[in-house]
Amino acid sequence: MNIIHVSAECYPVAKVGGLGDVVGALPKYQNRIGNNATVIMPYYETAYVKKAMTVVDFCFNLVMEQKTYFAEVLSVEDASLGYSLFLVRVTGLTDRKEVYGYKDDPLRFMAFQRVVLQWILQQKQLPDVVHCHDHHTGLVPFMMNRCEDFSLLKRIPTVLSIHNAQYQGQFPHEMGGILPRFRESDIGLLDWGGMINPLASAIKCAWGVNTVSPSYMEELKQKANGLESLLAHESAKCEGILNGIDTETWNPATDVYLHKNYNIRTRQSGRKANKEALCEEFGLDSTKPLFGFIGRLVWEKGADVLPEMIDKALQEYDINVIILGSGAPEVETQLSDLIEKYKGRYNAYIGYQERMSHQVYAGADFLLMPSRVEPCGLNQMYSLRYGCMPIVRSTGGLKDTVIDLGEENGFGICHNNTSVEDVVYSVGRAVTHFKDQKKFKEIQKTMMQIEHSWEKSAQMYVSLYNKLK
Ligand code: ADP
Ligand code: GLC
Repeated sequence: MNIIHVSAECYPVAKVGGLGDVVGALPKYQNRIGNNATVIMPYYETAYVKKAMTVVDFCFNLVMEQKTYFAEVLSVEDASLGYSLFLVRVTGLTDRKEVYGYKDDPLRFMAFQRVVLQWILQQKQLPDVVHCHDHHTGLVPFMMNRCEDFSLLKRIPTVLSIHNAQYQGQFPHEMGGILPRFRESDIGLLDWGGMINPLASAIKCAWGVNTVSPSYMEELKQKANGLESLLAHESAKCEGILNGIDTETWNPATDVYLHKNYNIRTRQSGRKANKEALCEEFGLDSTKPLFGFIGRLVWEKGADVLPEMIDKALQEYDINVIILGSGAPEVETQLSDLIEKYKGRYNAYIGYQERMSHQVYAGADFLLMPSRVEPCGLNQMYSLRYGCMPIVRSTGGLKDTVIDLGEENGFGICHNNTSVEDVVYSVGRAVTHFKDQKKFKEIQKTMMQIEHSWEKSAQMYVSLYNKLK
């Protein structure tokens, strides 16, 4: 089956969060089961793109609201990816350093989506399915269904994967001129709450819709930042497919970022060496239980409870804490301010660093994920594979992947609320479990054996495409 993934992120080209990891891995696993999956994404000025070997595959002049933009699609030569990769470069719009966060993002992603469809149109063999990821690609199903320019693509099934319904990409109707021509009577397929809403439009127009975990789909029907009634209404075409992880990139036995590689058998010595190296780098004490947090410092991740929670937990328990993340400036400041107070017991790296994230999974004993919203979450799955026990708020994908130690076959710690009290209480439980090292190390073995590879989910997506055909 010929599958085209359209996405704003794809690891290792450009990654802001889990979306990049998913789009960087799923196509590889789909190809292994006999498909021909391709990824097309915007051209950004990232380190990977600057070094990439590329060939121009297609170019044309894109006209949006009487302005002409030069656009080209570059084919990337990189056999290590495991799928074909194309970059859409629209001069002056996509070719920037950051993936998101510009005022003209609606225009940038509109340009990207229009070029993608123009590129598909000129292909000798049309794809069997176009798979869109999140709101940045959410207008693709509408354009394929309703815009005359792309009427040849009308019969191709489209799938929308919702990685995060908090972000919907809305822009005012006055900017509607950036879309290609469409019938005025179709405006309802673009509108939600008086705005053009790309995520809502994709939920309406895509042939199939999925969230990245089954529990998140159920939660969205109750609470989805304004989209709950739409999702409930479209529920017949909606399902949840749990993300997998790339077990080649995330393998403690071969991970190039680790100080010492290890497997299930050698986990004790391997994890000890990684913990010592991590603690040395951050001035911590490797004999104490080490709690880590990795992620965007935003409300959804419960990052705002971290400063007070760390303060309380460090006063109550003889533990160490390490933070790796960036986001809300006030949280960044509060987390930085604590460094001086708890020197030798707490440290934080405010920023993004791929290397360090791998080292925290390999070196920390526990990973904190007090998320308010977690559509799937990859951190807990990486953490399990590396033998680091996840402490999670039971929500979305966390609920689907972590079983509390108090239950049969449990291997993690779960709490109900994103609150200082709940997290500190869970830290207390963790400390108690940590004391029984013999049992703790047995649970580490169980965690590392849990199967979260993409194989099963890649097949589930292919079954979804087949159902739509
Ligand atoms: P989200 O996509 O909502 O941010 P996920 O759990 O799906 O959450 O994925 C987060 C990904 O980003 C993981 O690969 C995680 O290791 C990585 N990550 C998040 N913050 C950082 C950071 N500051 N430095 C390095 N990696 C990070
Ligand atoms: C989003 C979600 C996260 C999920 C990721 C990949 O960024 O916030 O929970 O794991 O997408 O699907």
